[in-house]
Amino acid sequence: MSVTDVLVIGSGVAGLSFAIKVARFAKVTLVTKKGCVDTATNLAQGGVAAVLSEKDRFSDHVNDTLMSGDHLCHEDIVRLVVEEGPDRVRELIDFGVSFQAGQKGEEFDLGMEGGHSARRVAHAQDLTGREIERALLENAYASPNIEILEDYLAIDLLVESKAGKLVGTSDRCLGAYVLNRTNGEVETRRAKVTVLCSGGCGKVYLYTTNPDIATGDGVAMAYRAGAEVANLEFIQFHPTCFYNDAAKNFLISEAVRGEGGILINEQGVPFMKQYDERGDLATRDAVARGIDAEMKKSGADCVYVDISHKESSFLKKRFPNIYGTCKRYGVDITREPIPVVPAAHYMCGGVRVDKWGVSSLENLLALGETACTGLHGANRLASNSLLEAVVFAHRGAKWVGDNWQDINKISMPNVHDWRVGEACSIEENVLITHNWDQIRRLMWNYVGIVRREKRLELVKRRIRPLLDEIREHFHDYLLTADLVELRNIAVVAELIVRSASMRRESRGLHFMVDYPDRDDARYSRDTVLSCR
Ligand code: SIN
Repeated sequence: MSVTDVLVIGSGVAGLSFAIKVARFAKVTLVTKKGCVDTATNLAQGGVAAVLSEKDRFSDHVNDTLMSGDHLCHEDIVRLVVEEGPDRVRELIDFGVSFQAGQKGEEFDLGMEGGHSARRVAHAQDLTGREIERALLENAYASPNIEILEDYLAIDLLVESKAGKLVGTSDRCLGAYVLNRTNGEVETRRAKVTVLCSGGCGKVYLYTTNPDIATGDGVAMAYRAGAEVANLEFIQFHPTCFYNDAAKNFLISEAVRGEGGILINEQGVPFMKQYDERGDLATRDAVARGIDAEMKKSGADCVYVDISHKESSFLKKRFPNIYGTCKRYGVDITREPIPVVPAAHYMCGGVRVDKWGVSSLENLLALGETACTGLHGANRLASNSLLEAVVFAHRGAKWVGDNWQDINKISMPNVHDWRVGEACSIEENVLITHNWDQIRRLMWNYVGIVRREKRLELVKRRIRPLLDEIREHFHDYLLTADLVELRNIAVVAELIVRSASMRRESRGLHFMVDYPDRDDARYSRDTVLSCR
């Protein structure tokens, strides 16, 4: 049984930048369930939104974020994130991140995206996440205080009450049980502080822009451990995922519309103005709903983004990844429109945290997409997620540093190791894949861009027996990564549905046919769930 100072779960921008800072005064163990670069960060194309030009203002970035969040953002958090943003971007540069410079020698080539009133997205062509991940990993590998364990999947948090050690009334987190995927053994990893940075939950849905790791692990673990989770009804569907059977999950960045790309239907007719006066650069909730309505009206399988009117040399330089990938799948973006559909992209809710990233469970923090900080409200503004991740990683690290003397004195009780009991190997993986498929289809068809109360009730009824069945599998079979992830997507799906049916209004990403209007009198508040 090992003890570390700080256990970080996840190797995206939030986990890595937090780890690098905390490693200046404490020992960090960072576990990541696949390879270090199998993260949503690594796929992020757009960039980091921040006020980096003299022509831009904090108040404008704040207003754009509040508007996008549809009156549910926490204004104090929005101000704090926006105002701390530029320092964090410059710190990324100190860590070695290379952002694209402007054509006239400006420090940044600032991009435009939906919902922004100014150009403010710092990017590295259309490979921003990969560049950030590369630089942060280099820093993490160079730190003698960071131990990185790949192929280690966290299963459950260790909590004092469940270990039978609770002395006072408030529970606390003591680390996590972690599955070593190489040998199939469950290890007990105790820690004084545990930090969930395991990304989002796109894999709860059939179609997603997310990598395979996005199975809602952090939210599911935190909920089971008794921490509060919030606003899980607000799942952001990215309007433009490449529509191609062979290209898995490939995103067509919103920056393409920012640079002049136009959404057109099968007849080549632009349609967004019919649905929203802001047109192609409306906020994501509005664009995804517009595309959904257009596809339903025409019966077409997809719509198109057309940017072929721009100079071919500009497109190849600004979007080398999109140009190259589409070309590989037979679409030349310099000459023809790109087929696209909406797909699940971002979890705006998550583990509820305060302004330091600290959850309601003592000694447990959550950062990045796993957390619900209050920044995004009912709909995240494009490119605000990498920003939130670096700002809160910094704040979380500061909180741990400021409290280190007390944290360091914490006595670490022994906890029992994972109990295998009579469990045997699962012989038929179909028991898992079938349930996995059922949940993802159910969520896609019934809890997607447009919702109805009746459908939500049906999903609730269908998920409950699946959860019971998965619980039995957990008892009967030795753990595999697939089984652990199946349990997590089932738990998160149930939380999304429960949260969605508690909000009897339409706001941001949550559109209910039965309640088409926003109801501020009853619902200007977070939807909070806890198993306690
Ligand atoms: C994109 O490039 O469109 C995705 C960026 C984001 O989700 O903020």
